[in-house]
Amino acid sequence: MNQLIKEIQTLKQEKNAVILAHYYVDDSIQEIADYIGDSYYLSKLATEIDADIIVFCGVSFMGESAKILNPKKVVLLPEEHADCPMAHMVNKEKIEMIRREYPDTAVVCYINSTAELKMYADVCVTSANALKIVKALPNKNIFFIPDEHLGRFIASKLPEKYFIFHDGFCHVHTSITAKKVLELKKKYPDSEILVHPECPSDVVELGNYVGSTSGIIEYATKSESKEFIICTEMGILYELQKKNPNKTFYFPSEHPICVNMKKITLEKVRDALWKEEKKVEVSDEIREAALKPLNRMLELAK
Ligand code: 13P
Ligand code: SF4
Repeated sequence: MNQLIKEIQTLKQEKNAVILAHYYVDDSIQEIADYIGDSYYLSKLATEIDADIIVFCGVSFMGESAKILNPKKVVLLPEEHADCPMAHMVNKEKIEMIRREYPDTAVVCYINSTAELKMYADVCVTSANALKIVKALPNKNIFFIPDEHLGRFIASKLPEKYFIFHDGFCHVHTSITAKKVLELKKKYPDSEILVHPECPSDVVELGNYVGSTSGIIEYATKSESKEFIICTEMGILYELQKKNPNKTFYFPSEHPICVNMKKITLEKVRDALWKEEKKVEVSDEIREAALKPLNRMLELAK
């Protein structure tokens, strides 16, 4: 076994730590993680985990959510600059403006957002539970932040609601175009197209299935098809291949990579655990306010 991995495993035991990883981190991290999942699964897990230290291998908003949901634990994010640009794409002023304009509006905040933004939301959602949660809200008016594409996908399923969108986006998913997907489909006509809802609407429309990273993995695993065109970040390939060694997965020609997720390395995991540094800190004021929409999400998603 690689020396670095041995060191991480020894440190984990000594310090009663667990490693949580998102499907987009590098394969080497997914190999050593105790739990791998989508952002909903990982946030739910953070409330249940019985360990002194959580090493969160993902981006800042994920580490923050784990800390908010489980403040007594030490949460380490091995690279503090692993951040999701979309998490910063809306501000408090815009939320206040919409609330003034549409008084009976639920502010629905994608979990890909900073803790400061969550403070002003009525409920958080992830791509795995957004439809169920928005449907359950009593409000007709929905201000969906920050991701426009996920918002539009959910809106297309809920014609009874009135949606106000914001123009946030994920540069990784918007680099996937309908043209590239159709080129692949022409080359592999028997393939099914599986799409993450952060993709633009014209890509979403091509999907045989549209859902979160874990939804995509589950669909591909249950499907009788042998070939799939995968419209999301490439890190998902590790789990797709592990669960489906006899199936083939194609990605749109320019490989969609989230550079922030890839900033987490084995060395950084070892160092963070060894020195107990790169701790995620959230002030009490932010934590208390951001906990409400996160808890409401966990409640409504049950
Ligand atoms: P999931 O909720 O599907 O894991 O997606 C998280 C994400 O950041 C997608 O870009
Ligand atoms: Fe953010 Fe996109 Fe990376 Fe997901 S893939 S963490 S939305 S930049």
